[in-house]
Amino acid sequence: MKKVGKSDFVSGFVPHHNHGSVDYTSVEDGHVHQYLDVTSTPIPSQEGQHIHYTEGYVVLKDEHYHYYKAYSGPAIPVVNGMHVHYYDFYTSEDDAHRHRIKGANQPVPGNK
Ligand SMILES: [Fe+2]
Ligand SMILES: [Fe+2]
Repeated sequence: MKKVGKSDFVSGFVPHHNHGSVDYTSVEDGHVHQYLDVTSTPIPSQEGQHIHYTEGYVVLKDEHYHYYKAYSGPAIPVVNGMHVHYYDFYTSEDDAHRHRIKGANQPVPGNK
């Protein structure tokens, strides 16, 4: 397989990639949690598209944390032959509240 640097233009699909995220949850009960995530490798979806699965815990805050599992949306092409995915989901309910996590993950080579 051809080597791909993290800023190289790549047309098409790059197998075996995953996406990172560094984000915060919504504010609930007067606090947020940091969200640090690495997705699964690509999961094929309709029309040659792909999505990613993710599962984990947000960072501990005020003596509790929350669990999440979710699928991303389809690949969205961005500049320089890279793509990102949107995500939008709720964490588990703990300490009588849950948080929303939404945004886009980090760009990866491949425009599909
Ligand atoms: Fe919380
Ligand atoms: Fe992807």
